[in-house]
Amino acid sequence: MSRTTPDYMQLIKKEKLPRHIAIIMDGNGRWAQKRLMPRTFGHRSGMNSLKQVVETCCELGISCLTVFAFSTENWKRPRDEVNYLMNLLVEYINKEIEELHKNGVRLQVLGDYRSLPEKSIKAIDLALNKTAANQGMVFNIALNYGARDEIIRAARLLAKQVEEGLLAVEDINEAAFSRALYTSGLPDPDLLIRTAGEMRVSNFLLWQIAYAEFWFSPLLWPDFNKQELLRAIWEFQQRDRRFGGLKTNGQEGHHA
Ligand code: IPE
Ligand code: IPE
Ligand code: MG
Repeated sequence: MSRTTPDYMQLIKKEKLPRHIAIIMDGNGRWAQKRLMPRTFGHRSGMNSLKQVVETCCELGISCLTVFAFSTENWKRPRDEVNYLMNLLVEYINKEIEELHKNGVRLQVLGDYRSLPEKSIKAIDLALNKTAANQGMVFNIALNYGARDEIIRAARLLAKQVEEGLLAVEDINEAAFSRALYTSGLPDPDLLIRTAGEMRVSNFLLWQIAYAEFWFSPLLWPDFNKQELLRAIWEFQQRDRRFGGLKTNGQEGHHA
């Protein structure tokens, strides 16, 4: 490590880690284009960054990691790119599932993956079942995911319960609504990272990021690595989270 790069692993306070880290993995296409390569080459390279990030989160003992892999809006892209991404995803899951399982990771998918190609559904179901009982880190892959889609789905689920007489309208509150989302039972993200210098949310976890701390990295996703993640976590630990209150330290006033 060079003298000018702080050793973030040493600086990070283990008792102040974010419980849930969410990442918008952006910039694969630009990374490839800079190298005069097809965009798909960038997606493939991005898999190495994902591997490093998952490993680092496991190493640190992060409870939950969510990555944005394919949005409901990404269907607008050329068919070849969409197909490539779907195949790459199956490849990633098949290649990594043993390692994830060994590390006690519980894989989950956020989004409507039932409408994906048959091959993808099979690989996902296999991986979900295999890791369902694991007690370690929850690893969410947001796939064919859109936050507005998720919120509408939740509203429908609750409306249906009301219609069936299982739920009273007065019992629809923040907790009930949270339970109807794909992230049911998980803490909200404390830290949201987006790469590639883009400062927008692009329909990701709109409900859940109400009080998340944002960190924007200028690095394109295939260049993102362990050090950059550690830096983001360290920066997160320097923030003063107030949750609308006045406390400048501690977690008082934070309702989970
Ligand atoms: C992120 O990289 C991966 C997905 C959205 C699937 P992009 O493909 O969006 O790369 P850029 O933003 O065009 O560089
Ligand atoms: C967000 O990135 C979606 C994923 C990372 C999967 P996009 O590249 O699709 O977002 P926009 O189009 O720049 O907002
Ligand atoms: Mg992009």
